[in-house]
Amino acid sequence: MSKPAPGFYVPAADRYDTMQYARCGKSGLKLPRVSLGMWNNFGSVNVHENSRQMLLTAFDLGITHIDLANNYGPLPGSAEETFGRVLSSDLRAHRDELCLSTKAGYDMWKGPYGDWGSRKYLISSLDHSLKRMKVDYVDIFYHHRPDPETPLDETMGALADIIRQGKALYVGVSNYSAEQTARAADILKSMGVPLTIHQPRYNMLDRWVEAGSPSLCDVLLERGIGAAVFSPLAQGLLTDRYLDGIPADSRAGGPCVFLNANGVTESILVKVRALNAIAAARGETMAQLALAWVLENPAITSVIIGASRPAQIVQNVQTIQKHVPLTDEEKAAINTILNEK
Ligand SMILES: NC(=O)c1ccc[n+]([C@@H]2O[C@H](COP(=O)([O-])OP(=O)(O)OC[C@H]3O[C@@H](n4cnc5c(N)ncnc54)[C@H](OP(=O)(O)O)[C@@H]3O)[C@@H](O)[C@H]2O)c1
Repeated sequence: MSKPAPGFYVPAADRYDTMQYARCGKSGLKLPRVSLGMWNNFGSVNVHENSRQMLLTAFDLGITHIDLANNYGPLPGSAEETFGRVLSSDLRAHRDELCLSTKAGYDMWKGPYGDWGSRKYLISSLDHSLKRMKVDYVDIFYHHRPDPETPLDETMGALADIIRQGKALYVGVSNYSAEQTARAADILKSMGVPLTIHQPRYNMLDRWVEAGSPSLCDVLLERGIGAAVFSPLAQGLLTDRYLDGIPADSRAGGPCVFLNANGVTESILVKVRALNAIAAARGETMAQLALAWVLENPAITSVIIGASRPAQIVQNVQTIQKHVPLTDEEKAAINTILNEK
């Protein structure tokens, strides 16, 4: 249902009744099992009112965790501005009910100080993010990707100082390997700061977090680090979106540089059709099965979904309400489908 005009929004009274919250590793922080990411569809090129409706729909369903990064848009920075605008118009009174994440690590501004993992970049980037989001602090600040050149001690030292400055309450890393994560956690620990969360990509089509010895999942579980997973629907491939072609209003059908028609391959569609049959037999949608499958991994705290319309958020949150754990037979059937060449 459409939300009232800016200034007239009142959150749903039952917003905490059906969402489940999971502890983020061994920290005190709890995250909703479904979080909302603002990477696509919340930029200055998008219709602001749709972005606002999606944010308020999420909040009404108990999604307290909103994931951002300095470069989300397009234009870079504009997703954080969109968030700041909705915070000002509708959510300001509820700041303490929100867990806000942002990141730095990818190319953000010209010159040697607007990319990767230097202390210079991370600290100034977060200051810019706070201004765009119109907040004094974020709840989680991530280093967005490993930097092969900057010493890890410097990057982790910047995260520790950001905590001490009160500009973030928790810190995390994203796209770090198992080995890099263990080293980052050790360095932070020596500085008296826990590594609270990791943000890896993980979905039925990309299971790298399970691979290796120790795997990233092993490292996270052993050390009590939480995980908020990105692209749990493989950017929409693990939904019914592309089963009958590529819709013009889909991510692959639009100008997105991260997923285009070439990424919607027949070999993926064969798998998704077979998975969709399992979902249908369980009374779930393909998206719901894909999210529930990720959430059944004990290392995973939350799935960060993307969306282009409020109805997708509603459907994805229903996963929590209706999912019955997969049986051993269903897990084996899913593995057979995923392992087919
Ligand atoms: N740390 C990192 O490096 C990193 C990288 C990427 C993303 N992220 C974070 O993760 C978040 C999620 O990433 P993502 O957008 O790739 O996630 P995703 O959940 O895998 O894909 C989202 C897309 O799936 C489609 N979709 C969602 N629910 C649907 C439903 N119920 N039925 C049909 N289609 C549905 C929509 O596509 P259409 O637009 O086609 O409708 C939506 O835009 C981002 O916003 C960002 O916060 C982090």
